[in-house]
Amino acid sequence: MTGGIAEHVAERIMGSKRMGWSMKRVRKAVFPVAGLGTRFLPATKAIPKEMLTVVDRPVIQYVVDEAREAGIEHFIFVTGRNKAVIEDHFDVQFELYDTLAQRGKDDQLARLQRLQPAPGQTSFTRQQVPMGLGHAVWCARELVGDEPFALLLPDMIMQSEKSCMKDMVELYAETGNNIIAVQECDPAEAHKYGIVGRGEDTHHGFRITGMVEKPKPGTAPSNLFINGRYILQPEIFGILESQERGAGNEIQLTDAMLKLEKQQSFYGYHYKGRTFDCGSPEGFVEANVAFALWRNDMNASMAGVIRTLLDEMKPSERRGVLG
Ligand code: G1P
Repeated sequence: MTGGIAEHVAERIMGSKRMGWSMKRVRKAVFPVAGLGTRFLPATKAIPKEMLTVVDRPVIQYVVDEAREAGIEHFIFVTGRNKAVIEDHFDVQFELYDTLAQRGKDDQLARLQRLQPAPGQTSFTRQQVPMGLGHAVWCARELVGDEPFALLLPDMIMQSEKSCMKDMVELYAETGNNIIAVQECDPAEAHKYGIVGRGEDTHHGFRITGMVEKPKPGTAPSNLFINGRYILQPEIFGILESQERGAGNEIQLTDAMLKLEKQQSFYGYHYKGRTFDCGSPEGFVEANVAFALWRNDMNASMAGVIRTLLDEMKPSERRGVLG
């Protein structure tokens, strides 16, 4: 490190202490995976929604891979009852690996091993009662400790050349403090999300001037919705500890962030890639189509299949909800 850079970093660390946030690297990511998946019944009666597959890997794998690409070294899952299979998915399956090796299926084995977190890189804790996203995040406080962390909501999976979280970590290196990724939404859909207010542009993001969770129609401060990716300072846990219930009678993360915004800055990162809400059947099917088309080995055949189905299916063949 040259003298100039060392001085710059030292100055930023001193500055960050004065401003009340830590300029530590983002090493840990939290994945709240306790949700019941009621929008997806009956599929999620016995299978966690995070384990439903998009093309050939579970939804949660996409989100963990995004975090890994961003340099995250420790993966913290806030699970719930009936979610043990998520822990199994990220464990070594010794018999399977051995069988693949014996059968010479080296490509498949190498792929599994590439996706395998190293020993000690995962932690699991449970949200014992479903009390909202803010409460789920608070359940990770002991595992995160006193350092900034990434938060990735596993319902949302993204598609872009460079991952959303990777860009956020780069913005964080410039700004410190807290970062929230946002995207534009149809104003008629704003009431489904957390919405931020847009302040002046800075670095490759902008300052956030306010936030509201699930605004009433016509009251949203912008059409920029929180897309499920955050970098937060550990001071959020102290606020969540005494948090009252908000929208939907749940402990809302957005309300806690609004309080933290009084002490620390929040920056918006405007993500320009595609986001799929895999918590809803439409978003999940869209993700399957998009990720199949995204893959070189499937693009041509899938495009053909989709075109044929669209051409062939007569309106009289369409069904409503299948019983
Ligand atoms: C949560 C957040 C919301 C965000 C959304 C993205 O809401 O509270 O701010 O916009 O995720 O999916 P939920 O989907 O849990 O209602």
